[in-house]
Amino acid sequence: MSLSSEMVCPPVGDQPLSEATQIALYGVTRVLASVGRAFVCLDSDFRIVHASYLLDDLLGKGISRALVGRGIEELLGADLFGARGPLREALVAGHRREGWRATLQLKDTVSRLVSITAAPVVHEPSDICDPRMRFVVLLRPAEEEESCSNSPAFYSDAIACSPAMQRIFRLVETLQHSEAAVLISGESGTGKEVVARAIHQSSPRSSGPFIGVNCGALPGDLLESELFGHIRGAFTGAVRDRVGRFELASHGTLFLDEIGDLPPLLQVKLLRVLQERQYERVGESVPRTARARIIAATNVDLRIALRQGRLREDLYYRLCVVPIEVPPLRDRREDIPPLASHLLNRVTCQHGLIRRMSPQAMRLLLEYSWPGNVRELANVMEYAVAVAKIETILPEDLPAEIRLSTPAPKPFATERGALRLPDSGQQEPRTVEADRLLSALETHRWSRSEAARALGLSRSTLWRKMRELHLTEKSEG
Ligand SMILES: Nc1ncnc2c1ncn2[C@@H]1O[C@H](COP(=O)(O)OP(=O)(O)OP(=O)(O)O)[C@@H](O)[C@H]1O
Ligand SMILES: [Mg+2]
Repeated sequence: MSLSSEMVCPPVGDQPLSEATQIALYGVTRVLASVGRAFVCLDSDFRIVHASYLLDDLLGKGISRALVGRGIEELLGADLFGARGPLREALVAGHRREGWRATLQLKDTVSRLVSITAAPVVHEPSDICDPRMRFVVLLRPAEEEESCSNSPAFYSDAIACSPAMQRIFRLVETLQHSEAAVLISGESGTGKEVVARAIHQSSPRSSGPFIGVNCGALPGDLLESELFGHIRGAFTGAVRDRVGRFELASHGTLFLDEIGDLPPLLQVKLLRVLQERQYERVGESVPRTARARIIAATNVDLRIALRQGRLREDLYYRLCVVPIEVPPLRDRREDIPPLASHLLNRVTCQHGLIRRMSPQAMRLLLEYSWPGNVRELANVMEYAVAVAKIETILPEDLPAEIRLSTPAPKPFATERGALRLPDSGQQEPRTVEADRLLSALETHRWSRSEAARALGLSRSTLWRKMRELHLTEKSEG
């Protein structure tokens, strides 16, 4: 192959590129263009060393050549790529970031909303055509991403872009033909029920019912009758026989939520079901066979309940054959933009509206720490749709606790899911969470119901968190 004029890349600095390098780069550009992706390659100073010719289609003729040698912040904004921009910091720390929104804009050109993936280029200087390349940024018009509802990041109605969530959904796929008990743990609102439903949907039981029981919502005797059913006359008010949830879920899945709240007597009965598949209705002595597949969930650390003797160890190990831990949203920020779009669509479809997030509003969502996780994000989208005056959701359309939250430290997820702060070393995730709760409580003048609603938490969860984090109103403390 010989070099034609359109394949010649302009040099950065004094060094013209070799012919072989230019041919290799041209090939990569063609391949990525054929799947609709533009890209730019950056050197260690975040200067553009190559720009795909697809940028000419997005911003205007000649732009891809004009970009070479310029800083990436000129193209994608200093708030993402400036000295303390979150994407620059992530790249410097060796992390990949996916699904971020940005406005592609150069002085005097049209602007385009794009979705970007940025990653360090992993290579030895000798095994890449241009050793100056340190980082690559892939760009895709945002409207293409929105129409792509069957991308692998979507699992039926659930979104999983982050590596941690993708791992969970791959595990769900491998569990397809298993009947093993699954224990799903994670903070309130992280999507435990979403995962449980996905397990049910991908199992041969998907045509049967998915029956949920909240083990913390009823006192022990009522819960027993709810789970196992009762016969007429079993207790005052039992005027007829009643089928329990185990029986209702015979051909489907029984989802035992807040399993840590199960009273001791019912723990013994549930253990028998798990070991022998037998139970009796309340007031009856005939044993029945339990056929339901069991999935349990908890938003507290059950190992503490084990240590304190509130949960039987034998029951824990029977329930926890396959443990799944759903990480908090602040530890998987890649999921925020697609989740926000998905939840926004969910609200706008109900109202027949069209709404889009502005990049500035999206940035605030990316910086917030989400103590109420995905449920809080869903509430925020509903709020924003209600107050937005135009088609684009602006920062002022977001609730105060998000607008006013201090964006100072920008935490990144590490491999193990803990928060790492760029400059100030380690900070306890709890401190970040305490700040968010305090900010919501103060915004709502310490009305716990209103703060809980804004945070997407139940009142009891907010109470628990306030106790754990020792948060009290000054006048109370
Ligand atoms: N991955 C996801 N994709 C789409 N929507 C999600 C996802 N995760 C959570 N949601 C949405 O967030 C909300 C909360 O999810 P869910 O009820 O599963 O949380 P949870 O962990 O069971 O909460 P809790 O501990 O309070 O019971 C729901 O509206 C759900 O549809
Ligand atoms: Mg739940």
